[in-house]
Amino acid sequence: MDDFLFSDEPQEEVSNIVQGTWKVIIVDDEPEVHAVTKLALSDFEFQDKRLEFISAYSGEEAKAMIDNHPDAAIVLLDVVMETDDAGLKVAQYIRETAKNNHIRIILRTGQPGQAPERQVIVNYDINDYKSKTELTAQKLFTVVMSSLRSYRDILSIEQSRQGLEKIIKASRDIFAAHSLENFIEGVMQQLTSLLGTVDKAMYATSLVASNPDDNQKKLVVFSGRGDFERSEGKAIEDVLDNEQLLACKQALQDKTIVYKNNYLFAYCCSEYNHNSMLFISGIPQYLTDTQRHLIEIFSQNVQLAYENVQLQSEVEATQQELVLRLSEALEQRSTETGNHVKRVSHICNSLALGYGLSKREAELIRLASPLHDVGKVGIPDAILNKPAKLTDEEWAIMQTHAQKGHAILKGSKRDIVKAGAEVARDHHEKWDGTGYPQGLVGENIHIFGRIVALADVYDALRHKRCYKEAWSVEAVVSEINEQKGKHFEPKLVDVFNQQVDELEKILALYPD
Ligand code: C2E
Ligand code: SIN
Ligand code: SIN
Ligand code: FE
Ligand code: FE
Repeated sequence: MDDFLFSDEPQEEVSNIVQGTWKVIIVDDEPEVHAVTKLALSDFEFQDKRLEFISAYSGEEAKAMIDNHPDAAIVLLDVVMETDDAGLKVAQYIRETAKNNHIRIILRTGQPGQAPERQVIVNYDINDYKSKTELTAQKLFTVVMSSLRSYRDILSIEQSRQGLEKIIKASRDIFAAHSLENFIEGVMQQLTSLLGTVDKAMYATSLVASNPDDNQKKLVVFSGRGDFERSEGKAIEDVLDNEQLLACKQALQDKTIVYKNNYLFAYCCSEYNHNSMLFISGIPQYLTDTQRHLIEIFSQNVQLAYENVQLQSEVEATQQELVLRLSEALEQRSTETGNHVKRVSHICNSLALGYGLSKREAELIRLASPLHDVGKVGIPDAILNKPAKLTDEEWAIMQTHAQKGHAILKGSKRDIVKAGAEVARDHHEKWDGTGYPQGLVGENIHIFGRIVALADVYDALRHKRCYKEAWSVEAVVSEINEQKGKHFEPKLVDVFNQQVDELEKILALYPD
């Protein structure tokens, strides 16, 4: 006998008490069955919600009700109606056509022993089947109760799944955006959309406090939405009211999430002892467990993820500094003076953007192009600094600087070093295939190599070398255009012509 021990029900959280009903669709061709069912379940309640009955008297009507009430929890489904298997057809329709996998199906058969095929029960995820005669009021109560429980669990799993999908997508967007400024904003946008009705939100952190030695670790608004959009850079004391500040302090002190009537403060975990706080207001009074769980996940991850992105850019800054120091040291050996690599670096960045490469790629070539002549470490001084034209033999040795540079840099997993290897190898290739070391043609030359080639020649010609004088801008522009489609990719020469005034400014900024 099924007895209900309500004390066994886990204590439901306040957040789950929401207004509404559980919809139950009764499908039966006998009106009497509808009446008896409603009577038997008239005082039924589950999680403070009562039942709402929807009636259908044929298989066809049932399908329409299924379509009209996608939020129905249960269908009590007669098998034999207009046809012997009308009910089974409805079950099939529910799962296969309407693709409703949430609703619980309880089959009711007229004759005892007339069981539906086992296959139907398995394929259409039928929760239960009972013969009408054995379906007493008590049994009906039991089966509806257990079906509602599983319906609730299915919904909650589904909500979690959707929430997780959004988080995964959020993380992807975050790392694609790759910019610190967009980072927190992206996270907050996702979070507020998950919560629905948010009106204001902000992320405050001690990370950007103007005085890093400040032991107080002042929280400063880093990113804001709604009213807080104009608060960025302000201390939280200046943007929150007293009651909010108290809640904030409590969250900070207990390193936890503090929920108030329609706002919350969430302390965000940090690897480096930064204090960070998420504030959201205008939230629904009753957050579901899933929503609370999402807030928890975000507060546990957002600062850590942010710090990871920061760390990543710290690594890149370090790489770049090493690259510059190395190539400057190299330049001191040769008579190419100081600023050649810096100029080439900025020229490449500008050409790359004009050519239509992504910001990220333009950044990469800016960071990597100083490595183009790294192979010159392997060239003897006597050749490198010879104040005259090279002999054929010297020239052959000189040309090896491309392969030597590639050999030094190849095999790295670091994006900058990888790009540097391509640049070192390909920067003396020519569009028409007459360059070295491989005599590559056209787009077989890495785009970074094509760009550096133009930047390098432009800068080399505009400046004095131990073996040559500096050329005028007119002479250089004319030479580069003469080489359009020969030494240089035509499209790059077009970009160069458009940018030449800007490029000259770069030269002026970093003179020899
Ligand atoms: P670099 O001085 O950095 O020159 C880079 C590229 O600029 C050269 O690649 C070449 O394409 C272009 N370039 C430089 N000066 C002239 C010029 O007077 N006329 C023309 N049309 N193009 C010029 P390239 O030719 O493959 O040379 C690679 C490197 O070999 C040069 O780098 C330089 O370090 C060395 N090199 C080339 N020619 C001589 C030379 O006559 N004497 C010495 N000492 N070194 C040379
Ligand atoms: C999360 O994981 O909850 C979002 C933050 C991230 O990108 O890792
Ligand atoms: C990217 O940032 O879009 C890819 C390159 C990288 O992860 O460094
Ligand atoms: Fe070179
Ligand atoms: Fe160069």
